[in-house]
Amino acid sequence: MPVVTLPDIQKIRDLVGDHLGFSFSAIEHQRLEKTVYRELEHLNLDLVAEYLTVLQMSTIWEPVWQRLIVSLANPESYFFRDQSQFELLRSKILPELIQRRASEKTLKLWSAGCAAGEEVYSLAILLKELISDIDTWQITIFGTDINTEALAIAEKGEYGEFSLRLQDLALCEQHFTSDGDRHQIKPELRQFVEFHPLNLLDSTLPECFQDIDLILCRHVFIHLETQAIAKILAHFKQALRPDGYLITGHSELYGLTLTDFRAHIYAGSLIYQPQLEPQSNLAMFSLPSFTNLQWQSSPLPERGLKLSDPIFDPNQVVQYPNQSQSQLNTLIRHRRYAQAIALLEQQSSNGQYNFQTHYTLACLHAHLGQYPPAAHHCYQALELNHMSEPPCYLLAQIAMIQGEKDEAKRILLQILFFNTEAALAYYDLAQIYYLENDGEHAQSLEQKAFALLQDLDLDQVLDPFRQYTVQQLYDEINVRQALIS
Ligand SMILES: C[S@@+](CC[C@H](N)C(=O)[O-])C[C@H]1O[C@@H](n2cnc3c(N)ncnc32)[C@H](O)[C@@H]1O
Repeated sequence: MPVVTLPDIQKIRDLVGDHLGFSFSAIEHQRLEKTVYRELEHLNLDLVAEYLTVLQMSTIWEPVWQRLIVSLANPESYFFRDQSQFELLRSKILPELIQRRASEKTLKLWSAGCAAGEEVYSLAILLKELISDIDTWQITIFGTDINTEALAIAEKGEYGEFSLRLQDLALCEQHFTSDGDRHQIKPELRQFVEFHPLNLLDSTLPECFQDIDLILCRHVFIHLETQAIAKILAHFKQALRPDGYLITGHSELYGLTLTDFRAHIYAGSLIYQPQLEPQSNLAMFSLPSFTNLQWQSSPLPERGLKLSDPIFDPNQVVQYPNQSQSQLNTLIRHRRYAQAIALLEQQSSNGQYNFQTHYTLACLHAHLGQYPPAAHHCYQALELNHMSEPPCYLLAQIAMIQGEKDEAKRILLQILFFNTEAALAYYDLAQIYYLENDGEHAQSLEQKAFALLQDLDLDQVLDPFRQYTVQQLYDEINVRQALIS
């Protein structure tokens, strides 16, 4: 029986890390050790050094690596995994992309780390439902993975009950041909998809991965080293159209400093878009629309909003000594939010902040996914400026993140109670009703928002932190109305 020492395992772990980007927790370390024993037996080898040589001399597409991949990389997936993200794709992201590409009628989507293809076909189903003349479109949905066994299943497009868990019968009947508990995807969907073996850590991407409208890379980063994630994100930036979208699993990019992407927070997901050019001021706080980061901590403090003082002037400038102000702006520009928080906290060692500092801290914490302190600073800001709307909008977003739609509605209704012309509050409320499938209510709120926008200057910023202008809101409403009609 061969002896496998800790240094042996470390060498293999490093090699796997270099090739595939995997990081190893204690449990995975044990799994690697077991796998190495099994492989030595399978290959009839006595020494780990020999096994290492075989690995070094093979590509990851050869059986020796593939067995390792099957053993170490979890290919778990199923249709419409994570309903909230798919709901967001169905109600917002895909309709927007379809609208944008309506003249050239082409769309390129990519499921990176697609396992056996469930995510790829789920996208195909959504597109089929959303595009009435889909046969006149040129649509490609790429599915790529390092696991060739999983890709073979994807190619075949045949799934068992477990892959379709949670799905209703109607969906199965519409898009699959079923034989007992086996379900074969229909050819009309198969025509839109292409599967390719691809290691996301390869130094370059094949040429076809260009001008991509949407990349889904979910449940892939969780087991990868930070450096590997950074490399993959650089590929994604290159592959995406400038106005394309990247969706990862919830919280998979938390704690990473993202220089190439800006995050948008929506109900149902955090979504990324390529960062076009460095911005120079607090507009970096962009938080357009509602959010859901699956924040798992304690709920928001139970507290109503007291709205009785003059409205906060969004043009108010943060007043710090000049040097600190420019330092703060630089940190924010480079998305060093934790350092920006430390700087602001340093400014006032006794913890006494003014309204703007509380609000800035709230947004910084929100960007880091730290919602309880973000909510705390919103409430503190409101203590100082009771009728200010921006902290209310942020609180409503945080409530949405925590799945508390009713709390979000309550906060937005409070804004409207004191300012019946708050177009953005009508619009945000409409988004909640859309999420609740109450289209009628949603539309009437959206129309109200639209009517209120008529009297405003297009460049007017409605929410300084989301940098939502009247123009943007117009565009959003127009896209939706065009799709509905
Ligand atoms: C848990 S599955 C996720 C499947 C699907 N995206 C989902 O969310 O349901 C993760 C997949 O990522 C793949 N993967 C891991 N590292 C990869 C890499 N370096 N390049 C390409 N695929 C990778 C694994 O083989 C596995 O099939």
